[in-house]
Amino acid sequence: MESRNPSFFEQTLPDFPALLSGNPSPEEVEACLQLRGEKAEALRRAAHETKMKTVGDKVYLRALVEYSNICRKNCFYCGIRSGNPEVRRYAVGRKEVLEAARFAHQAGFGSMVLQSGERQDEAFVAEIESLVEAIVQQSGGELGITLSLGEQKAETYARWRKAGALRYLLRIETSSTELYARLHPVDHDFRTRLDCLKALRDTGYQVGSGIMIGLPFQTTLQIAKDLLFLRELDVDMVGMGPYIEHPKTPLWAYRGQIPSWQGRYDLSMNAWAVLRLLMPDINIASTTAIGSLHPKGREEALYVAANVIMPNLTPFSERKEYFLYEHKLCIEESHEDSRENIERIIRAAGCRPGYFEQGNSLRFRNR
Ligand code: 5AD
Ligand code: SF4
Repeated sequence: MESRNPSFFEQTLPDFPALLSGNPSPEEVEACLQLRGEKAEALRRAAHETKMKTVGDKVYLRALVEYSNICRKNCFYCGIRSGNPEVRRYAVGRKEVLEAARFAHQAGFGSMVLQSGERQDEAFVAEIESLVEAIVQQSGGELGITLSLGEQKAETYARWRKAGALRYLLRIETSSTELYARLHPVDHDFRTRLDCLKALRDTGYQVGSGIMIGLPFQTTLQIAKDLLFLRELDVDMVGMGPYIEHPKTPLWAYRGQIPSWQGRYDLSMNAWAVLRLLMPDINIASTTAIGSLHPKGREEALYVAANVIMPNLTPFSERKEYFLYEHKLCIEESHEDSRENIERIIRAAGCRPGYFEQGNSLRFRNR
């Protein structure tokens, strides 16, 4: 398709669903991301209507357990990177994980996510395998399990899949190999990440990926390319969010070179809208990071595009140690508060909670 002149957007409002469900150029997607004021509202409304027509008003719940902050990686943006000596490292005990799973199952959350820093040692792999088996057994197979445990061997992914995990989240963070290299030490490789995503797909998982928005050295055109790349990857689900600085990371030094909080918020919300229009039938999460940027962030993301939310069920004693970035949300909440709070957010967004449903991605079901 021929690329339209971006000034097109200044004169008139495009038919966003037609434009984005077709074959938009990166520049056209970029122009959408840059919209502000009434035009941004029109974009978000279009995404909302598309969301209602495809995945509907139901929001699926995933109980999140931040299993461990022990990580062998050293990503330049992340507060729990191995190079941060000030972090008290933990792993949630088996009993606590199973308690959280029981609570989630009884509360009707439908699914749970085990997220952790990255480890590949056999003790870790075997413990996850056994936890997944135990959760499946304890819930009579009713609780859907999503893993978010980083880059692993294909063999490991297969073991966890066999144990009963259904979905796997592995963010690409950015689709630019140059930017990826600026955000990670030399032994972290973008190709490995793509190979992992392919292995996950081949193993039969519902595959999720995502990006960070508003990173230092990142252009809006690059974010546009990232969103198109997620479509090319044909993911079943996306978890993305604004980048938020953390003082004990190398990227802290570049905090003067990122958009303001409001700028990142606007950019993120437009990115959610664009993604829903590019990929109408996937599951999209309203993530903690957007809620950490603005009190109404998760609610607005649900209104615009998202149909998944992840109430945090990490035990209190550990929660504050999974400190990926400044001002991270949910550090003080109790499980019950969290359930009520999440329901309030969902209703405020004009949606309904999908209790007692696993909430698998429509795209995956139609595949
Ligand atoms: N700001 C926002 N998101 C972050 N993540 C890690 N550090 C940050 C940060 N400073 C996200 C990454 C990672 C996920 C676990 O958390 O996208 O994939
Ligand atoms: Fe580890 Fe993930 Fe943080 Fe990277 S982003 S340091 S892999 S927890």
